[in-house]
Formats: sequence, C-alpha cells, structure tokens
Amino acid sequence: ALSQACDLLSAGVDTSSNTAVFLLHHIAKEPELQQALYDEFTSVCGLNGIPDFNDFQRMPLVRNCIKETLRLYPAAPIIRLAQTDMVVHGYKVPKNTSIVFELFLIGRDPKLYPNPEHFNPYRWEGKKEQDGLVTFGSLPFGAGVRMCYGRRLAELELHLLLANICRRFVLSTDQSSSLELIKLTLLRSKGPVRLHIKEREHV
Ligand code: HEM
Repeated sequence: ALSQACDLLSAGVDTSSNTAVFLLHHIAKEPELQQALYDEFTSVCGLNGIPDFNDFQRMPLVRNCIKETLRLYPAAPIIRLAQTDMVVHGYKVPKNTSIVFELFLIGRDPKLYPNPEHFNPYRWEGKKEQDGLVTFGSLPFGAGVRMCYGRRLAELELHLLLANICRRFVLSTDQSSSLELIKLTLLRSKGPVRLHIKEREHV
C-alpha cells in the first residue's frame, strides 16, 4: 500500500499541476474563449450547479481545451524497453534498448496538426477518439498495458478546475508572455507563470 501511495503521488501530482498551469496560461490570453467556456458551463449546469461526470460529456469545449493543452504540453514521457532485436522504419533497435516516444514533437507535427504552435481547441471539433490518426497523434497518457492509470482522475480534475475557474473568474495575462519550457523527465515551465485573476461579474 505504501509503495502504491508513493507511486500515485509521484506520478500524479506534478503531471496534473503542470498541465493545469499550461492550460490556464493559454486560457488567460483568450477572453473570447473564456466567455465561450462560461456560456457552455452555465448552459449545462446553471450558475451554481456542481458538474458531475455526465455533465462534462455535454461540454465539448472544456474537453477540447484540455486535449489541446496535452497536445502542446505532454507532461510525462512514454518509455519502453525493446523486448527483442527489431527494425523500426529502417533503424535497427537492439534488444533491451530504452525507447522514448517524443510526444512533444509528435504533438507539434504540422502533418498532423496544421499551424501546430497555435493553441486552438476548436481543431478537435468533430474528431472522434476512434480516428486512428488523432488517437496515435496525441498520446499524452500513453498506450497499452502501461498506460497512465490516473488518466480518468487527472481528466476529471482538469475539467473541474477549468469549468469552475471560467464560471467564477476572468483570467488575463500579458499577451506577449510566453512559456519557457524545461524537461526534467516531466515537462514544466522554467519560470513562474503570472496570471491576473478577477472575480466575474454575472449579468
Ligand atoms: C495530466 C496528468 C497526467 C499525465 C499527462 C500523465 C501521463 C502519464 C504517462 C505518459 C504515463 C506513461 C504511460 C505509458 O508508458 O504508456 C503515465 C504513467 C503513470 N501515471 Fe500518469 N499522468 C497524469 C496523471 C496521473 C495521475 C493523477 C496519477 C495517479 C493518481 C497517475 C499515475 C500514473 C502511474 C501510476 C503511472 C505508471 C503506470 C505503469 O507504469 O504501469 N498519473 N502517466
């Protein structure tokens, strides 16, 4: 139990919080997007409702903002050990080689995502999970037997955070501010991320 608790804490805390920082940084730059998120949330839950899992199925913009953040900023790596000698796209990979999947580069590949550096949650509209290209073009939680088993918890946390923040607050930031990223196993911002947070005036 102790070892499981340590695993969950080390794998679950910085991944979720770093993703939340990246998400809020982009939202803060886009007042119109915040208004659209507010409208979506209040149309499903009203002003004071507490959303549950089913409500989030009816909030595609909230979901797409999270997907877009994880495309641009995959917080954790996928690492595998080659089980046998193999050839991948003409490269010989000997048995026991560590293979790191470069999720950061895949998520910014213009062949998969036009104008890839641009934060655009609307690019996910109409795309289905079953669509092979989309599924394998963005694997922020990994895949297969070792995929992240905190995925659903992390997604629920991010949905709740974004929906509640957009319902109650208006965020802003210096439009010219950009993120300087650093990867120390996990991806994070090198410096502090500054946001202005103002209580929303309900009309
Ligand atoms: C936005 C948040 C998160 C991201 C982006 C993320 C991403 C990942 C990735 C990419 C992997 C490797 C998957 C693979 O090798 O196929 C992983 C593994 C793992 N994650 Fe997460 N994770 C997040 C949140 C969490 C949370 C909240 C927990 C726990 C409550 C958690 C627990 C784990 C554990 C235990 C593993 C290792 C699974 C194994 O090796 O069998 N993660 N995560």
